Amino acid sequence: MPIESSICKKQLQFPDRHETCSVKWDRNTQDVLPFSVADMDFSGSVHLINRLKQRLEHPVLGYTDPFPNTKRTICNWWNSRYHTTISEEAVIYSTGVLHSYVQIIEEFTRIGDKILTFSPIYPPLFNLPVKLGRPVVFSELINDNWQIDCEDVEKKIRSDPTIRLLVLCNPHNPVCKVWGKVLLEKLVMICSKYDVLLVSDEIHIDLSFIPAVSILQVSRPQDAVIVLGSPVKTFNVAGIKGSFLFCPSVKIRERLAIRFKTRGISDLNLFAYQMLEEVYGNPENEIWLERAKNQISANYQLLCKNMKRSLPKVEIAPLEATYLAWIDLRAYLTDEQIKKACHRAKITLHYGNEFGLNGEGFIRWNIACDPVILEKGIDLFIKEVSRISLG
Ligand SMILES: Cc1ncc(COP(=O)(O)O)c(C=O)c1O
Repeated sequence: MPIESSICKKQLQFPDRHETCSVKWDRNTQDVLPFSVADMDFSGSVHLINRLKQRLEHPVLGYTDPFPNTKRTICNWWNSRYHTTISEEAVIYSTGVLHSYVQIIEEFTRIGDKILTFSPIYPPLFNLPVKLGRPVVFSELINDNWQIDCEDVEKKIRSDPTIRLLVLCNPHNPVCKVWGKVLLEKLVMICSKYDVLLVSDEIHIDLSFIPAVSILQVSRPQDAVIVLGSPVKTFNVAGIKGSFLFCPSVKIRERLAIRFKTRGISDLNLFAYQMLEEVYGNPENEIWLERAKNQISANYQLLCKNMKRSLPKVEIAPLEATYLAWIDLRAYLTDEQIKKACHRAKITLHYGNEFGLNGEGFIRWNIACDPVILEKGIDLFIKEVSRISLG
């Protein structure tokens, strides 16, 4: 049953984000509608906001130690949702998923070593290694429902011993895909066979609309596997910057723990510990999460309905996870024309070619916003696409 956007709107609020130094809203003039940067325009869970306010009632904000229960709370959340058996010792705090990623690359690879990842994919996952002098080898997702080609992965790893690390985005940004258990098992097996470190970026896992599987469910404690986890997408708290990683292997995590500590990557701020404990520890916040997911589903239906009505040859990837709709416009426009259409419509979003070569002709549209704004943006965009494609 489609969920009516209007019903959801009663439950969530969409405050004006202008003049809050928002990356999404304040980097453009006020007449531009942004559907770009991956955060939500929904106000956060009231329980979380109150918890943060509560801390401010104590007027001293001095140096803080990690809170005693935070790691346990993180593990409980993960273990109950993903049927894992991760323990507190396997958790390392981090100021951000990408900060962790950079440290892992520097600790476990040398300049010139290669990193294998998939394409299209969230750009920093290939830009950062390249900036650090580690070339990237892509295994292109098969553009027939965007599948991972395990044979291609194995062939590439087997033929190039300088590939030291495989980076997975689970679920996958963009293309909205939740990876299945059998596939994840195969990837773990390939990495273990060729002694390649497997890093699974699971930042979007709690925003899945079908059951998602963590790589921790299909790997053994001795496997060289690291999971990058975070509540910043799930609970829309990216500005607080608090995340963590799970590393079951003692050998690997001992090295990482020292590195993170000496570089300050594990020293979170006071509000980050507070946030982690609250969102994962207080079930009231899960009500907010359900509402946010309902709104995203309703917005996705709105997007599909309105786009298809005017542009029937547009293909929109099924939304298995994330709030980043992946839209195929190749039946209508070239990349150049897509840019022109967005510019004229005064909307911002991400162009598919930013995510890798096989993203050409696609766009990534952030739909975690007020449905009224979404509808307006879609209308403006459709008008320009029709105008340009009709010549
Ligand atoms: C797949 C993925 N990984 C990492 C990040 C960034 O995480 P952080 O802000 O914790 O570095 C994003 C943000 O959009 C993302 O989509």
